Amino acid sequence: MERRTIGAAALAVGAVGLGCMPMSWAYSTSRQRGDESLRAVHRALDLGSTLLDTADMYGPFTNELLLGRVLKERRSDAFVSTKVGLLVGEQHIVANGRPGYVKRACDASLRRLQTDVIDLYQLHRSDPEVPVEETWGAMAELVQAGKVRALGMCAVGARGGRRSGAGLHDGTLRQLRRIQQVFPVSAVQAELSVWSPEALDELLPWCEARGIGFLAAMPLGNGFLTGTLTPGEGFEPDDVRARHPRFTAEMMAANQPIVAGLRRVARRHGPEVTPAQVALAWVLSRGRHVVPVPGAKRERWVVENAGAAELRLTSEDLAEIGMLPRARGSWD
Ligand SMILES: NC(=O)c1ccc[n+]([C@@H]2O[C@H](COP(=O)([O-])OP(=O)(O)OC[C@H]3O[C@@H](n4cnc5c(N)ncnc54)[C@H](OP(=O)(O)O)[C@@H]3O)[C@@H](O)[C@H]2O)c1
Repeated sequence: MERRTIGAAALAVGAVGLGCMPMSWAYSTSRQRGDESLRAVHRALDLGSTLLDTADMYGPFTNELLLGRVLKERRSDAFVSTKVGLLVGEQHIVANGRPGYVKRACDASLRRLQTDVIDLYQLHRSDPEVPVEETWGAMAELVQAGKVRALGMCAVGARGGRRSGAGLHDGTLRQLRRIQQVFPVSAVQAELSVWSPEALDELLPWCEARGIGFLAAMPLGNGFLTGTLTPGEGFEPDDVRARHPRFTAEMMAANQPIVAGLRRVARRHGPEVTPAQVALAWVLSRGRHVVPVPGAKRERWVVENAGAAELRLTSEDLAEIGMLPRARGSWD
């Protein structure tokens, strides 16, 4: 698989990564199977999808434990990217950016991942009670201690509650400017997909101009862009899509023209090519510093998604995708 470079620390990874979150968190939990997930991770590494994206809060903790079982055997094949800064409670998730906590959390992640170094350590969310420079400073000390190779920052996720007229990533950019003064940012992780292209406006160019890698989260639109979801079928109560405004039966039906467009492009490339692969190839085409991390728990999806690295979209394809209707259903 083509290799891409992440950020200041010049870390090379396969162009298509693997988002490990669905194996332990957020999607159809009744279908989570440890053995199947382990096969999926091994297959990803075999195919050159080396970047494994996880977080201590996925599970919580069980996703890192799962990856640890693979890393114990084949650490040198993988690029491990995990996250710190969010704690999961009974009914809520809270940020914790206190320096002492960050250092303890890193040691705990290292133990669960069965490794002595994390390739990319990302701040999941900043803590409103702690200046982000303090949290980032503690993370920088982890690099100096050799526990972490490079640092990344996740975009502020909440779509609601923005000041009117503010761009989706204004808050993230403000934080990035502050932490860059403390220690180099090697990667930024934010949502980027055919139906959520907002990062293209400012965030992606900001990264590109500074040689910072971009990890595209939710590149398959939480599964919608694959064309395998049926409007009205419903989701399990603990599936994030059960509360997502784009996943009501009405909005899923209204957004079908987007999937139909991806399907049309796929057909031009052959009967085996899928809308998921077109969605990922579009993300890959947004810049050489972009690495999509499609989430999957099944080996079948991992193989399909890795195949997107071979798909080259033409200017006609890109123009057609650019003309697709805007997604309906918003957090705002
Ligand atoms: N930093 C952050 O705040 C943040 C937020 C969200 C996500 N992320 C990261 O980004 C990664 C990707 O995001 P995501 O998992 O939320 O969304 P996604 O990649 O857009 O979509 C994941 C969903 O698509 C399905 N899928 C994957 N490949 C498929 C294929 N080829 N055909 C049909 N269905 C397919 C998966 O199904 P199965 O579940 O059945 O495998 C899963 O339900 C996560 O795993 C996580 O690492 C980070």
